[in-house]
Amino acid sequence: MMEDTFGRTITYLRLSVTDLCNYRCCYCMAPEGVEKTAHGAVCSLEELRDMTAAAVACGVRKVRITGGEPLVRRGIVELCRMVKEIPGVKELCLTTNGSLLGPLALPLREAGVDRLNISVDTLRPDRFRTITRLGELSQVWEGIQAAEAAGFSQLKLNCVLMGGVNDDEIKDFVNLTKTHPWQVRFIELMPMGVCAGWDRRTFLPVETVRERCSELEPVGTEGVASCYRLPGAAGTVGLIAPMSHVFCGDCSRIRITADGKLKPCLHSGEEIPLRGLTGADLVQAVRQGIARKPERHHLERRGGSEARRSMNEIGG
Ligand code: GTP
Ligand code: 5AD
Ligand code: SF4
Repeated sequence: MMEDTFGRTITYLRLSVTDLCNYRCCYCMAPEGVEKTAHGAVCSLEELRDMTAAAVACGVRKVRITGGEPLVRRGIVELCRMVKEIPGVKELCLTTNGSLLGPLALPLREAGVDRLNISVDTLRPDRFRTITRLGELSQVWEGIQAAEAAGFSQLKLNCVLMGGVNDDEIKDFVNLTKTHPWQVRFIELMPMGVCAGWDRRTFLPVETVRERCSELEPVGTEGVASCYRLPGAAGTVGLIAPMSHVFCGDCSRIRITADGKLKPCLHSGEEIPLRGLTGADLVQAVRQGIARKPERHHLERRGGSEARRSMNEIGG
């Protein structure tokens, strides 16, 4: 186990496997997408596996595969298998936009993925096309069904709450939990990259969900989410408030980007290059990175996120 300088134990690695995505969500990416050659080639599957193993040597027990969209990465199923085989990896999770889950849910399950979080910001097909620019909501529903059929329980659906964009669907999302054993999570939009300069009214606090659904009863916390339940509901509602409640004090995460940089914090510009290192040197570099984890983010300051990358490069 390794503690950082602020006494936080680092047990959770978010591993980004690509910054490419088959969607162009309006708050995340420019319409033209990512320049493939803009930032060094991506790491090979073996490099990503070795970097993960080094993080595990420093105390990481949970690995979440992210992107961009991780399922567009060639060899993703193989990579999941390789990561799950690292002794010490207790839980392997993956966050996806769901569009490619139809054919991939079962192979991912068989490769050892324990849990899936799926991003869905609207339940309306036309609006889904507007928000994602390239997405088809029906494919995500097929993906969710495939995930359930493949044996994934504890599905979480991530909805980034945006005032004037999807806040009129709060009740519809909450009502999904009546019959589905999912956790529907509302996430506060963080001003990063393309959405950094958006109208302040778009940035709604997740408290809005409680105001509009007074029947929700608190049932505890899970990671960064405060959880609630409608009386008698099959699933739960999670509220993630990176803006209105800074949860950095008990942050257990580090990140590795697809081009092999360790990011001690989502919102700091600090990056420790891991590429080319092996064995004890690699472990030492990860250790250094953990030691340099900042105390908290300063999203509330003017200038917002100090990350030098956009969300699709970091992976949330
Ligand atoms: P669980 O393992 O199910 O708890 O998943 P998770 O919440 O860690 O992962 P997920 O990929 O579903 O992330 C949910 C959202 O939380 C992300 O989209 C981000 O918006 C936000 N988030 C994740 N990590 C951080 C972080 O370190 N800092 C901040 N401020 N927000 C984060
Ligand atoms: N603020 C909050 N969440 C974001 N995501 C992407 N960009 C942002 C942002 N600026 C979310 C995605 C996905 C998760 C990995 O990150 O919608 O659910
Ligand atoms: Fe942790 Fe940085 Fe995220 Fe805060 S912003 S919760 S310190 S990773």
